[in-house]
Amino acid sequence: MPIPYSEKVIEHFKNPRNVGRLEDYDAKATEGSPACGDMVTLYLKVDEETKTIKDIKFESYGCASNIATGSIITELAKGKTLDEARKISWKAAAEELGGLPAVKVHCSVLAVDTLRAAIRNYEEKHGLVEDREPTTVEVVEKRLRHVMNPLTGLDIVKTHVVKKTDVNNGVITVWVDLSRDHQFANNIEQEIRERLEPLWDVAEVRVIFNDDEEE
Ligand code: FES
Repeated sequence: MPIPYSEKVIEHFKNPRNVGRLEDYDAKATEGSPACGDMVTLYLKVDEETKTIKDIKFESYGCASNIATGSIITELAKGKTLDEARKISWKAAAEELGGLPAVKVHCSVLAVDTLRAAIRNYEEKHGLVEDREPTTVEVVEKRLRHVMNPLTGLDIVKTHVVKKTDVNNGVITVWVDLSRDHQFANNIEQEIRERLEPLWDVAEVRVIFNDDEEE
């Protein structure tokens, strides 16, 4: 039986607003849903003085509900202050979309969580929160547990694709137990970067494969 989507969900899914990347973003977050394995990345451009969201874009590797919610929350968040945007709830987004089927609630939660994570990322980078956590090997490994090993469908830490990690003076190094020409090497490197580069105190992420020369 097809999922009963509202007309507005279908319209936003077919013509999503604010889709894509922002190259000169001020904050970025990537979140994944353990419920379905889908992923969303969201970029923010923020006016430093007024803390207003000047521009916002998202990329979704999720389903129709997720894309529609990403579209609606980016519309709702644009022009709002960070504090106002943080208060946008998945319920408000779902209502705005004319309702979502119960099995699809996690998809809108994922989109809203990603917006909140991007706001948090901005605040951490700009020293606006007191409880920001310095990046440690534990923080890095926790984040890498969200990167999947496409060969097994399990994460790259659990499956020992990550051999070792190191954090030193804002530089994270991740040693990957694959050769550069492995069919998934590029995907895995890109996902590692997506997860680690936004961390507030990280200046560089180095991903080293087995056959890379190390300086
Ligand atoms: Fe994965 Fe909707 S089913 S985001």
